[in-house]
Amino acid sequence: MSESRKIDVVPVPIFPVPAIIQRVIPQICSWPFEDSYIPRLLKNDIPQRLQKGKAGFWLYTDAADPKKEVIGFGAIDVCLNYDYVTGNRHHPHIPLLACRPDMRGKGIGPSIVKHLIGEAVLRSFWPGLNCYPVVFLEVYTDNVGGIKTYQRAGFQNLSDEPTYDPKEKKSYFVMTRSLSIAPEQGIT
Ligand SMILES: CC(C)(COP(=O)(O)OP(=O)(O)OC[C@H]1O[C@@H](n2cnc3c(N)ncnc32)[C@H](O)[C@@H]1OP(=O)(O)O)[C@@H](O)C(=O)NCCC(=O)NCCS
Repeated sequence: MSESRKIDVVPVPIFPVPAIIQRVIPQICSWPFEDSYIPRLLKNDIPQRLQKGKAGFWLYTDAADPKKEVIGFGAIDVCLNYDYVTGNRHHPHIPLLACRPDMRGKGIGPSIVKHLIGEAVLRSFWPGLNCYPVVFLEVYTDNVGGIKTYQRAGFQNLSDEPTYDPKEKKSYFVMTRSLSIAPEQGIT
């Protein structure tokens, strides 16, 4: 991790816009992603999560851009994917986030993660769910930029033993981050 960059870079102020995924899939799937899992999750995984009613999906623009060009997207869900860790309790889960490929390396990803952590906190207080106050996500072991981004946002590996994904023929880490609200400091 480059500590100097971590200190120097101010997160890009982004503006989240809730979006209907089916309407925006053609636009964002036309971005030149190198990773096949991104369009696959956009088409097959996130719409199913949204249908169940506990997920959210946002497009992001640079808050200072008058043209409001889309520079990234992200999703959050509340699910039971890791019920074996949470003791059968629901928990927030980030299934996917990404910057537009030509906008990587500018600090947009960290801003998206920050927004999604805030949404995870809100959802962890959903009445009637008794949510487990930890957000989960998966990141492929070869995704150095993704792992750095999540570590800098306070995520840690659930286990140092990666899990093999036969669909992508590579392994991923499960990462987790505790959620809490400190009344004087806001969401931490
Ligand atoms: C992971 C991701 C969200 C990070 O967002 P970002 O805005 O590029 O984040 P940063 O600007 O803070 O850069 C973080 C790291 O990404 C890597 N990175 C920077 N520019 C990059 C580029 N042009 N291409 C690939 N990786 C790059 C670097 O390792 C960087 O670490 P450094 O700060 O030590 O140099 C973004 O690269 C992305 O959208 N990747 C594809 C989707 C993905 O991996 N999502 C996360 C897992 S679901």
